Amino acid sequence: MSASAPNGGGDRAGVGGKAPFRVGLLGHGTVGGAFAVLLGERADEIERFNGRRPVISGVLTRTQGDFERILSEADLLVELIGGVEPAREYLLAAMRAGKDVVSANKQLLSQHGEELFETARERGVRLRFEAAVAGAVPVVRLLEESLSATPIERIHGIVNGTTNFILTEMTAGASYEDALAQAQRSGYAEADPSDDVSGRDAAAKMAILARLAFGTPVHLDDVRYEGIEQLRAEDMEYARELGLGLKLIGTAERRHGGVSVRVHPAFLYGGHPLASVVGPFNAVTVESEAITEITMSGPGAGGRQTASAVLGDVVSVMTGGARPPAPPLALPLIEDVKSAFYLYLDVVDHPGVLAAVTHALGAQEVSIKSVVQRGLGENARLVMVTHPVLESSMHAAVEEMAGFDFVRSPPRTIRVIEEEFV
Ligand SMILES: NC(=O)c1ccc[n+]([C@@H]2O[C@H](COP(=O)([O-])OP(=O)(O)OC[C@H]3O[C@@H](n4cnc5c(N)ncnc54)[C@H](OP(=O)(O)O)[C@@H]3O)[C@@H](O)[C@H]2O)c1
Repeated sequence: MSASAPNGGGDRAGVGGKAPFRVGLLGHGTVGGAFAVLLGERADEIERFNGRRPVISGVLTRTQGDFERILSEADLLVELIGGVEPAREYLLAAMRAGKDVVSANKQLLSQHGEELFETARERGVRLRFEAAVAGAVPVVRLLEESLSATPIERIHGIVNGTTNFILTEMTAGASYEDALAQAQRSGYAEADPSDDVSGRDAAAKMAILARLAFGTPVHLDDVRYEGIEQLRAEDMEYARELGLGLKLIGTAERRHGGVSVRVHPAFLYGGHPLASVVGPFNAVTVESEAITEITMSGPGAGGRQTASAVLGDVVSVMTGGARPPAPPLALPLIEDVKSAFYLYLDVVDHPGVLAAVTHALGAQEVSIKSVVQRGLGENARLVMVTHPVLESSMHAAVEEMAGFDFVRSPPRTIRVIEEEFV
């Protein structure tokens, strides 16, 4: 499509002679292309209830369109380029020119959110970004609007569909390598999946959700994250045996007057609302004393699915439903929190092994909830689940155990989320 061939039914005046609502589109790839098609399909309906017809007044890609011209001719800009630059520069320029903006860019928002929010506030324009977190799942709107008067205690999210697909395949018996290859064949994983499998993509989304839920600035660099590369088929077997689900979970929660934001694999008790989320789906659970718990799930990616969230943002701006972002609060970020752990030890079975392990744990005040021993002799495995303990204490105990001569490979730990929110 060319910059001079607007979509959405042309520039004709809408119902009652109202001028069309002109959307400048930056990026025409997977999401941008699907957005242009969807806007064309939905333009009649949007015009019917809104009085103005949305039209695409210009398109910018690497090979077509002129940014200044598109900006001057648009009522609102939609940024679907991705990455930090030039997306940041374009969004700032648009807001400084008094234009409302919509973006799906989690990288940008998790690294330069405050600069963008402050510019939106200063200029009194709207900055909408529903599609930046969990694709079509409307969690941004839930936090910004429906729950804006509700003190949120905690958010748990499966916010990366690629890793959830891989973990689902591994639960069915596939190895990590086969599951990743299957995700790439099915189009769920990029050729370079490192941001997904390392947890960095989920960390960016959790930084954005934490800012919305708690009002405090959270940069991507503030989020501690671990990925799924170190998980093994045995972990899945133990998960099945213990009746637990194994997921890559993002958590943002209030802790000791501050906020903790992290991403890591976690065992979930069978009844947890996120335990049953399978395949490339995303889901988010929001917990608060006032509402107990709300869980939403749906497709976290895909051109048309993401485009529908972007178009929802455009309509929200057209109908005046969105407000500029609130100014930030200053809450401390808490790094050391308590978690229960699963501990996997590959050991040579001889007398005194269990005593040495329990001594190392006891010295850090880690108390054991359950122990399973498998195999004998050179091929023994000790699997334990602990009660909640400070993560720093668990790491210290693991460091000591890694030095024992009977431990044959580095000990592995996975957090366990087993308590229900009440
Ligand atoms: N794909 C998904 O399922 C999904 C889901 C949720 C959120 N998102 C977010 O949506 C955004 C877009 O993702 P996508 O998958 O649609 O990306 P994409 O397919 O790679 O498309 C990117 C578009 O931006 C254009 N572009 C790149 N650099 C540019 C530059 N310097 N100047 C002008 N145009 C430039 C490209 O131009 P050319 O056409 O000339 O290459 C292309 O049209 C990203 O922020 C992504 O994180 C995507």
